[in-house]
Amino acid sequence: KGCKFVGCGSAVPALQISNDELASIVDTSDEWIATRTGIRNRRVLSGEENLTTLAVEAAGKALQMAKVDPNDVDLVLMCTSTPDDLFGNAPQIQRQLGCNKSLAYDITAACSGFLMGLISAACHIRGGGFQNVLVIGADALSRYVDWTDRGTCILFGDAAGAVLVQACNSEEDGLFGFDVNSDGTGHRHLNANIKENETNNALGSNGSVLAFPPKQTSYSCIQMNGKEVFRFAVRCVPQSIESALEKAGLPASSIDWLLLHQANQRIIDAVATRLEVPPERVISNLANYGNTSAASIPLALDEAVRSGKVKAGHTIAAAGFGAGLTWGSAIVRW
Ligand code: ACO
Repeated sequence: KGCKFVGCGSAVPALQISNDELASIVDTSDEWIATRTGIRNRRVLSGEENLTTLAVEAAGKALQMAKVDPNDVDLVLMCTSTPDDLFGNAPQIQRQLGCNKSLAYDITAACSGFLMGLISAACHIRGGGFQNVLVIGADALSRYVDWTDRGTCILFGDAAGAVLVQACNSEEDGLFGFDVNSDGTGHRHLNANIKENETNNALGSNGSVLAFPPKQTSYSCIQMNGKEVFRFAVRCVPQSIESALEKAGLPASSIDWLLLHQANQRIIDAVATRLEVPPERVISNLANYGNTSAASIPLALDEAVRSGKVKAGHTIAAAGFGAGLTWGSAIVRW
């Protein structure tokens, strides 16, 4: 059995924050941020918006493009590390979309989330008999950004993107090859760890702390060693794409579009140079949105498809990388 990609959609919050605005809260400048990262603006959740509203909007657009009825969706994969509900965001999205006959669950793999979701969708279709799988990448890293840390707060934005993956016969198969990896030894370089708040311990009736006190928890802000993450990405992403291309039996010259997780323009440029993909075949929109984690690949894909850049039949090398550490790539036909 094969799988093909039949629709995409995206959504971003209304509130835009420019580099100049950030320079009014931390010691930075538009020039520093743009030169080091390529980022100029980012969108951040505000007002009534939340991750569910963004995800529903993005997924609804993907269903519309694919002309697939919500009742024909049999799996919703919500790829996120910043859900509205710690127990899982996917079922709320499923309900709001009206995907009434679908299984729905979350996948957590930070900035690689969407890529992992795409591969999982293909496995569910090939081995599990699923027909229409909605893969949503959505994150609101603004919730975990330390807005006093100029080393990280300049990088991130919030967004959602979605792709509908559909079962097809093997001749139509649009997933040519993939490669996925994780390495927990690099966890220290990028994380948002759990914090246990000891002051919320329950007290026993005699005033003593219970032997197994319930604790209230929260998460630390994003901690990142930027240089190490940069080195990891520039080393591992080209290797991963080369491995996926080898499995696909395709040369790098066959790539119509290189679509990387939008973390930093210098990372994108370095990977493109290493793979000898010319700049005009590289998709980049991080100037407008910053690093939107699991949303970045489907957001950039959606813009490229709707603007007519990516056309039916084009071959795309997509790669995600980020916390975990996790990374992976897929060679797909749009
Ligand atoms: N404005 C001005 N100066 C700054 C800023 C800022 N926003 N941030 C850091 N600096 C200063 C530092 O304090 C340092 O000053 P010093 O030399 O006086 O000590 C100097 O600039 C250099 O800082 P570095 O951190 O060494 O800067 P670098 O060139 O490494 O760029 C950056 C930092 C942009 C974060 C880069 O390392 C990077 O992009 N790394 C990859 C990060 C990334 O992509 N993360 C996301 C991964 S995906 C995920 O899973 C979330």
